[in-house]
Amino acid sequence: MNKVDNILQLIGRTPMVRINKLAAPEGAELWAKVEYLNPSGSVKDRIALRILEDFEREGLLKPGGTVVEATSGNMGVGLAMACAVRGYKAILVMFDKASDEKRRLVQAMGAEVVICPADVPADDPRSYYSVAIRIAEETEGAVLCNQYHNLSNTQAHYEATGPEIWEQMEGRIHAFVASIGTGGTITGAAHYLKEKNPDIKVWAADPLGSILKTYKETGEITEGCPYLVEGIGEDMVPGNLDIDLVDEIVNVTDKESFNMARRLALQEGILGGGSTGTNMKVAVDVAAAMRPDQVVVTLLPDTGERYLSKLYSDEWMLEQGMSDQ
Ligand SMILES: Cc1ncc(COP(=O)(O)O)c(C=O)c1O
Repeated sequence: MNKVDNILQLIGRTPMVRINKLAAPEGAELWAKVEYLNPSGSVKDRIALRILEDFEREGLLKPGGTVVEATSGNMGVGLAMACAVRGYKAILVMFDKASDEKRRLVQAMGAEVVICPADVPADDPRSYYSVAIRIAEETEGAVLCNQYHNLSNTQAHYEATGPEIWEQMEGRIHAFVASIGTGGTITGAAHYLKEKNPDIKVWAADPLGSILKTYKETGEITEGCPYLVEGIGEDMVPGNLDIDLVDEIVNVTDKESFNMARRLALQEGILGGGSTGTNMKVAVDVAAAMRPDQVVVTLLPDTGERYLSKLYSDEWMLEQGMSDQ
Protein backbone atom coordinates (compact mmCIF):
# COMPACT_ATOMS: atom_id res chain seq x y z
CA MET A 1 0.00 0.00 0.00
CA ASN A 2 2.67 2.50 1.05
CA LYS A 3 5.11 2.01 -1.81
CA VAL A 4 6.33 5.44 -2.83
CA ASP A 5 9.04 6.96 -5.02
CA ASN A 6 10.53 9.12 -2.27
CA ILE A 7 9.97 9.93 1.40
CA LEU A 8 8.17 13.22 0.65
CA GLN A 9 5.24 11.30 -0.78
CA LEU A 10 4.49 10.03 2.73
CA ILE A 11 3.67 13.53 4.01
CA GLY A 12 0.09 14.03 5.21
CA ARG A 13 -2.86 11.60 5.38
CA THR A 14 -1.96 11.08 9.05
CA PRO A 15 -4.15 8.82 11.20
CA MET A 16 -6.86 9.91 13.64
CA VAL A 17 -6.76 8.09 16.98
CA ARG A 18 -9.45 7.98 19.68
CA ILE A 19 -8.35 9.14 23.14
CA ASN A 20 -9.90 6.81 25.69
CA LYS A 21 -8.64 7.01 29.27
CA LEU A 22 -7.91 10.75 29.38
CA ALA A 23 -11.39 11.68 28.14
CA ALA A 24 -14.07 12.13 30.82
CA PRO A 25 -16.60 9.26 30.38
CA GLU A 26 -19.59 11.61 30.63
CA GLY A 27 -18.04 14.18 28.25
CA ALA A 28 -17.62 14.39 24.45
CA GLU A 29 -15.70 11.87 22.32
CA LEU A 30 -12.08 12.92 21.98
CA TRP A 31 -9.95 12.25 18.89
CA ALA A 32 -6.37 13.21 18.00
CA LYS A 33 -4.75 13.59 14.58
CA VAL A 34 -1.27 12.15 14.95
CA GLU A 35 0.90 14.60 13.03
CA TYR A 36 4.07 13.14 14.49
CA LEU A 37 3.55 10.25 12.06
CA ASN A 38 4.59 12.53 9.21
CA PRO A 39 7.95 11.22 7.93
CA SER A 40 10.22 13.67 9.78
CA GLY A 41 8.09 13.50 12.93
CA SER A 42 6.00 16.67 12.85
CA VAL A 43 3.14 18.62 11.27
CA LYS A 44 5.76 20.91 9.70
CA ASP A 45 6.53 18.43 6.91
CA ARG A 46 3.30 19.55 5.28
CA ILE A 47 4.32 23.19 4.97
CA ALA A 48 8.02 22.58 4.34
CA LEU A 49 7.16 20.71 1.15
CA ARG A 50 4.35 23.07 0.13
CA ILE A 51 6.54 26.18 0.52
CA LEU A 52 9.36 24.65 -1.56
CA GLU A 53 6.89 23.56 -4.26
CA ASP A 54 5.38 27.04 -4.44
CA PHE A 55 8.87 28.62 -4.74
CA GLU A 56 9.73 26.12 -7.50
CA ARG A 57 6.48 26.87 -9.36
CA GLU A 58 7.14 30.62 -9.12
CA GLY A 59 10.70 30.13 -10.44
CA LEU A 60 12.26 31.55 -7.25
CA LEU A 61 14.02 28.31 -6.29
CA LYS A 62 16.29 26.77 -8.90
CA PRO A 63 18.27 23.49 -8.86
CA GLY A 64 21.16 23.73 -6.37
CA GLY A 65 19.59 26.76 -4.65
CA THR A 66 19.67 27.56 -0.93
CA VAL A 67 16.72 27.52 1.45
CA VAL A 68 16.95 29.71 4.58
CA GLU A 69 14.57 29.70 7.53
CA ALA A 70 14.18 30.91 11.09
CA THR A 71 12.84 27.88 12.93
CA SER A 72 12.40 26.70 16.49
CA GLY A 73 13.16 23.24 15.22
CA ASN A 74 10.44 21.18 13.58
CA MET A 75 10.18 23.29 10.44
CA GLY A 76 13.94 22.87 10.16
CA VAL A 77 13.68 19.09 10.32
CA GLY A 78 10.97 19.05 7.65
CA LEU A 79 12.95 21.46 5.48
CA ALA A 80 16.22 19.53 5.92
CA MET A 81 14.41 16.37 4.80
CA ALA A 82 12.73 18.08 1.82
CA CYS A 83 15.98 19.84 0.78
CA ALA A 84 17.94 16.55 0.99
CA VAL A 85 15.46 14.91 -1.40
CA ARG A 86 15.16 17.92 -3.74
CA GLY A 87 18.91 18.74 -3.76
CA TYR A 88 18.88 22.16 -2.04
CA LYS A 89 21.18 23.50 0.67
CA ALA A 90 19.30 24.30 3.91
CA ILE A 91 20.52 27.01 6.32
CA LEU A 92 18.48 26.99 9.55
CA VAL A 93 18.53 29.77 12.15
CA MET A 94 17.42 28.46 15.56
CA PHE A 95 16.64 29.65 19.09
CA ASP A 96 19.21 28.74 21.73
CA LYS A 97 16.35 27.10 23.73
CA ALA A 98 15.60 24.53 21.00
CA SER A 99 16.58 21.02 22.07
CA ASP A 100 19.96 19.48 21.14
CA GLU A 101 18.07 16.60 19.58
CA LYS A 102 16.48 18.98 17.07
CA ARG A 103 19.81 20.53 16.08
CA ARG A 104 21.43 17.12 15.55
CA LEU A 105 18.49 15.91 13.51
CA VAL A 106 18.78 18.64 10.91
CA GLN A 107 22.56 18.38 10.80
CA ALA A 108 22.14 14.64 10.10
CA MET A 109 20.18 15.54 6.96
CA GLY A 110 22.83 18.00 5.80
CA ALA A 111 21.48 21.35 7.04
CA GLU A 112 23.72 24.12 8.36
CA VAL A 113 22.61 25.52 11.76
CA VAL A 114 22.99 29.09 13.09
CA ILE A 115 22.06 29.65 16.78
CA CYS A 116 20.53 32.92 18.08
CA PRO A 117 19.29 34.10 21.50
CA ALA A 118 15.59 33.47 22.27
CA ASP A 119 15.24 36.39 24.70
CA VAL A 120 15.63 39.36 22.32
CA PRO A 121 12.73 41.15 20.56
CA ALA A 122 11.84 40.12 16.99
CA ASP A 123 13.13 43.43 15.57
CA ASP A 124 16.54 43.15 17.31
CA PRO A 125 19.33 42.47 14.74
CA ARG A 126 20.40 39.44 16.86
CA SER A 127 16.90 37.85 16.75
CA TYR A 128 16.45 34.73 14.72
CA TYR A 129 14.04 36.51 12.39
CA SER A 130 16.58 39.27 11.61
CA VAL A 131 19.51 36.88 11.20
CA ALA A 132 17.56 34.66 8.76
CA ILE A 133 16.58 37.69 6.63
CA ARG A 134 20.22 38.86 6.50
CA ILE A 135 21.56 35.42 5.48
CA ALA A 136 18.92 35.07 2.73
CA GLU A 137 19.79 38.53 1.37
CA GLU A 138 23.53 37.88 1.43
CA THR A 139 23.38 34.39 -0.16
CA GLU A 140 23.06 34.10 -3.93
CA GLY A 141 20.15 31.99 -5.20
CA ALA A 142 18.64 31.82 -1.71
CA VAL A 143 14.98 31.95 -0.68
CA LEU A 144 13.63 32.74 2.78
CA CYS A 145 10.74 30.41 3.66
CA ASN A 146 9.28 32.93 6.09
CA GLN A 147 6.89 30.38 7.59
CA TYR A 148 5.26 33.02 9.82
CA HIS A 149 4.11 35.22 6.95
CA ASN A 150 4.28 33.00 3.83
CA LEU A 151 0.64 32.13 3.07
CA SER A 152 1.60 28.83 1.38
CA ASN A 153 1.69 27.62 5.00
CA THR A 154 -1.99 28.24 5.75
CA GLN A 155 -2.92 27.08 2.25
CA ALA A 156 -1.31 23.67 2.87
CA HIS A 157 -3.51 23.18 5.93
CA TYR A 158 -6.61 24.54 4.17
CA GLU A 159 -6.11 22.14 1.24
CA ALA A 160 -5.02 19.05 3.19
CA THR A 161 -5.17 19.06 7.01
CA GLY A 162 -8.71 20.49 7.19
CA PRO A 163 -10.20 18.16 4.54
CA GLU A 164 -8.44 15.15 6.09
CA ILE A 165 -10.00 15.91 9.50
CA TRP A 166 -13.46 16.44 7.97
CA GLU A 167 -13.27 13.19 5.99
CA GLN A 168 -11.81 11.11 8.82
CA MET A 169 -14.58 12.27 11.18
CA GLU A 170 -17.20 11.95 8.41
CA GLY A 171 -18.33 15.46 9.29
CA ARG A 172 -18.96 14.56 12.98
CA ILE A 173 -16.96 17.28 14.69
CA HIS A 174 -18.17 19.95 17.11
CA ALA A 175 -14.91 21.45 18.38
CA PHE A 176 -11.35 21.67 17.10
CA VAL A 177 -8.38 22.42 19.38
CA ALA A 178 -4.90 23.43 18.17
CA SER A 179 -2.01 25.59 19.31
CA ILE A 180 -0.49 28.52 17.45
CA GLY A 181 3.13 28.74 16.33
CA THR A 182 2.89 30.37 12.93
CA GLY A 183 -0.90 30.06 13.06
CA GLY A 184 -0.89 28.06 9.81
CA THR A 185 -2.41 24.87 11.21
CA ILE A 186 -5.25 26.48 13.12
CA THR A 187 -6.06 29.07 10.44
CA GLY A 188 -6.01 26.69 7.46
CA ALA A 189 -7.83 23.82 9.19
CA ALA A 190 -10.39 26.11 10.89
CA HIS A 191 -11.08 27.92 7.61
CA TYR A 192 -11.92 24.64 5.88
CA LEU A 193 -13.87 23.16 8.80
CA LYS A 194 -15.96 26.31 9.32
CA GLU A 195 -16.75 26.43 5.60
CA LYS A 196 -18.14 22.91 5.98
CA ASN A 197 -19.94 23.72 9.22
CA PRO A 198 -19.80 27.25 10.72
CA ASP A 199 -20.96 25.87 14.10
CA ILE A 200 -17.66 24.07 14.74
CA LYS A 201 -16.03 25.88 17.65
CA VAL A 202 -12.28 26.48 17.32
CA TRP A 203 -10.18 26.65 20.48
CA ALA A 204 -6.54 27.72 20.61
CA ALA A 205 -4.31 26.28 23.32
CA ASP A 206 -1.67 28.91 24.06
CA PRO A 207 1.24 28.89 26.54
CA LEU A 208 0.95 31.24 29.50
CA GLY A 209 3.41 34.03 28.59
CA SER A 210 2.34 34.26 24.93
CA ILE A 211 0.63 37.50 23.88
CA LEU A 212 -2.12 35.93 21.77
CA LYS A 213 -4.92 35.57 24.33
CA THR A 214 -4.71 39.27 25.26
CA TYR A 215 -4.49 40.17 21.56
CA LYS A 216 -7.62 38.14 20.77
CA GLU A 217 -9.58 39.57 23.67
CA THR A 218 -8.50 43.24 23.58
CA GLY A 219 -6.78 43.80 20.21
CA GLU A 220 -3.74 45.04 22.15
CA ILE A 221 -0.20 43.80 21.51
CA THR A 222 1.41 43.43 24.92
CA GLU A 223 4.81 42.15 26.03
CA GLY A 224 5.18 38.38 26.43
CA CYS A 225 6.98 36.45 29.19
CA PRO A 226 9.36 33.50 28.69
CA TYR A 227 8.06 29.91 28.93
CA LEU A 228 9.53 26.48 28.23
CA VAL A 229 7.15 24.74 25.82
CA GLU A 230 8.69 24.83 22.32
CA GLY A 231 7.24 25.77 18.94
CA ILE A 232 4.06 27.57 20.07
CA GLY A 233 2.92 30.89 21.53
CA GLU A 234 4.04 34.27 20.23
CA ASP A 235 5.50 37.66 21.06
CA MET A 236 4.13 39.04 17.76
CA VAL A 237 1.13 38.35 15.52
CA PRO A 238 2.10 36.07 12.58
CA GLY A 239 0.74 36.84 9.09
CA ASN A 240 -0.54 33.26 8.85
CA LEU A 241 -2.84 33.72 11.84
CA ASP A 242 -6.44 34.79 11.21
CA ILE A 243 -7.49 35.37 14.81
CA ASP A 244 -11.15 35.77 13.78
CA LEU A 245 -11.29 32.05 12.96
CA VAL A 246 -10.32 31.27 16.57
CA ASP A 247 -13.33 31.42 18.86
CA GLU A 248 -11.51 31.19 22.16
CA ILE A 249 -7.93 31.05 23.47
CA VAL A 250 -7.05 29.18 26.66
CA ASN A 251 -3.73 29.75 28.43
CA VAL A 252 -1.85 26.65 29.56
CA THR A 253 1.13 26.63 31.93
CA ASP A 254 4.34 24.74 31.13
CA LYS A 255 3.63 22.45 34.08
CA GLU A 256 0.15 21.59 32.75
CA SER A 257 1.49 20.99 29.20
CA PHE A 258 4.37 18.75 30.25
CA ASN A 259 2.38 16.71 32.76
CA MET A 260 -0.44 16.20 30.26
CA ALA A 261 2.06 15.02 27.61
CA ARG A 262 3.44 12.53 30.15
CA ARG A 263 -0.06 11.30 31.06
CA LEU A 264 -0.84 10.81 27.36
CA ALA A 265 2.29 8.65 27.03
CA LEU A 266 1.56 6.67 30.21
CA GLN A 267 -2.15 6.12 29.71
CA GLU A 268 -2.67 6.09 25.96
CA GLY A 269 0.81 5.04 24.74
CA ILE A 270 1.06 8.21 22.65
CA LEU A 271 4.46 9.95 22.92
CA GLY A 272 4.06 13.57 21.82
CA GLY A 273 6.04 16.75 22.44
CA GLY A 274 5.29 19.61 24.81
CA SER A 275 2.74 21.27 22.51
CA THR A 276 0.91 17.94 22.29
CA GLY A 277 0.42 18.33 26.05
CA THR A 278 -0.77 21.94 25.60
CA ASN A 279 -3.34 20.89 22.99
CA MET A 280 -4.44 17.83 24.93
CA LYS A 281 -4.91 19.80 28.18
CA VAL A 282 -7.40 22.13 26.48
CA ALA A 283 -9.01 19.32 24.44
CA VAL A 284 -9.61 17.18 27.56
CA ASP A 285 -11.17 20.15 29.42
CA VAL A 286 -13.30 21.22 26.44
CA ALA A 287 -14.52 17.63 25.89
CA ALA A 288 -15.34 17.22 29.60
CA ALA A 289 -17.70 20.21 29.39
CA MET A 290 -19.51 18.88 26.29
CA ARG A 291 -22.15 16.17 25.76
CA PRO A 292 -21.35 12.48 25.04
CA ASP A 293 -22.98 12.77 21.60
CA GLN A 294 -20.48 15.51 20.63
CA VAL A 295 -16.96 15.20 19.20
CA VAL A 296 -13.74 17.11 19.92
CA VAL A 297 -10.71 16.81 17.63
CA THR A 298 -7.19 17.93 18.43
CA LEU A 299 -3.83 17.57 16.75
CA LEU A 300 -0.53 16.16 18.05
CA PRO A 301 2.13 18.35 16.37
CA ASP A 302 5.40 16.51 17.04
CA THR A 303 7.07 13.44 18.49
CA GLY A 304 8.12 13.23 22.13
CA GLU A 305 11.39 11.59 21.09
CA ARG A 306 12.66 15.15 20.54
CA TYR A 307 12.21 15.91 24.26
CA LEU A 308 13.52 12.79 26.04
CA SER A 309 16.10 14.89 27.91
CA LYS A 310 13.48 17.53 28.76
CA LEU A 311 9.87 16.82 29.65
CA TYR A 312 10.37 13.05 29.67
CA SER A 313 13.33 13.32 32.07
CA ASP A 314 12.29 13.14 35.77
CA GLU A 315 15.45 15.07 36.75
CA TRP A 316 14.77 17.89 34.28
CA MET A 317 11.13 18.15 35.39
CA LEU A 318 12.25 18.45 39.06
CA GLU A 319 14.99 21.00 38.25
CA GLN A 320 12.51 23.16 36.33
CA GLY A 321 9.86 22.93 39.07
CA MET A 322 7.53 21.16 36.63
CA SER A 323 7.08 17.89 38.48
CA ASP A 324 3.56 16.97 39.60
CA GLN A 325 4.82 14.74 42.45
C1 LIG B 1 6.07 21.63 18.42
C2 LIG B 1 5.12 22.47 17.64
N1 LIG B 1 3.83 22.47 17.98
C3 LIG B 1 2.92 23.25 17.32
C4 LIG B 1 3.30 24.08 16.30
C5 LIG B 1 2.25 25.02 15.72
O1 LIG B 1 1.95 24.92 14.40
P1 LIG B 1 1.68 26.19 13.48
O2 LIG B 1 3.01 26.80 13.15
O3 LIG B 1 1.00 25.63 12.29
O4 LIG B 1 0.84 27.17 14.23
C6 LIG B 1 4.63 24.08 15.91
C7 LIG B 1 5.08 24.92 14.81
O5 LIG B 1 5.66 25.95 14.89
C8 LIG B 1 5.56 23.27 16.60
O6 LIG B 1 6.88 23.27 16.27
